[in-house]
Amino acid sequence: MRASYPDDARLAVEAALSESFLPCESRYAGVVCEAMRYSLLSGGKRFRPVLVLLGAELVGLDWDQVLPTACAIEYIHTYSLIHDDLPAIDNDDMRRAKPSCHIAFGEDVAILAGDALFAEAFRLIGAEQSPDRPDLAVRVVREIAEASGLGGMVGGQVVDVLSAKTQVDAAKLDFIHRHKTGKLITASVKAGAILGDGSEELLAVLERYGDRLGLAFQITDDILDLTGDEAVLGKPVGSDEERFKATFPGVYGLEEAAKIARAAADEAKRSLNGLPGDTGRLRDMADFVCERKR
Ligand code: IPE
Ligand code: IPE
Ligand code: MG
Ligand code: MG
Ligand code: MG
Repeated sequence: MRASYPDDARLAVEAALSESFLPCESRYAGVVCEAMRYSLLSGGKRFRPVLVLLGAELVGLDWDQVLPTACAIEYIHTYSLIHDDLPAIDNDDMRRAKPSCHIAFGEDVAILAGDALFAEAFRLIGAEQSPDRPDLAVRVVREIAEASGLGGMVGGQVVDVLSAKTQVDAAKLDFIHRHKTGKLITASVKAGAILGDGSEELLAVLERYGDRLGLAFQITDDILDLTGDEAVLGKPVGSDEERFKATFPGVYGLEEAAKIARAAADEAKRSLNGLPGDTGRLRDMADFVCERKR
């Protein structure tokens, strides 16, 4: 059965993202602002901000209460995509079915647009997130910063780029995927629950869920890089092979990689067993991750 995606949450994120942005006209730095808008508002599944909303649902918090953080995480994800596509990293010309940011605006502006999105993410949380509970906002900032930096996404990206054209073992590959992709996904689902003052027990469960979900998400990304339809994916296929990237299909073969992704998604679902409240939508996200075509 095809897993359903929470489109209601995605649409709430979409609306909040377009409202979160100031107009670009009459600014000296207008072109960087245009580049940020171009990459941010060009679609995408909004998987991470949707997870923020689903994490909030678990603790009975309204979506409205977490939208600044949901948007902030999508800013950081978008910055990571802009930089990931640069010639010095993956050198990919298409993203979200449009020319990559550096193709449309030049490398200089693309680098700065990514930098600005990263900073704007934390500005948004500081300005708008939980003014009555600054302790929770600070905790979320710490969670997201850890997930984005050396111990998270950037750390994984560093090992990813340094591992191209080398032989990687299973442990290193696991490290790359759980960091470059898993950490921000984990922070997303935890952030929603943190803002609702969720218990430490719940956060530990979501940590495990996010880690398994993130691994399954990136293995599927590697599989789609080989088997996907470029028109549906909105980004080039064959990019990993061209650059001799360390991937799950590369190390295990396609069939085994798909099994590992499915097993990780099942572990994600199992980790939710015993939680009070409705975890159905989080379980659907795990199925979606394995079945997705984009
Ligand atoms: C692509 O992320 C980069 C990875 C971490 C695999 P997504 O597959 O979430 O891309 P968008 O946001 O939907 O474009
Ligand atoms: C990127 O992994 C992960 C990031 C943190 C950006 P990939 O390089 O495989 O992502 P795509 O395939 O370009 O979206
Ligand atoms: Mg990459
Ligand atoms: Mg890439
Ligand atoms: Mg990829």
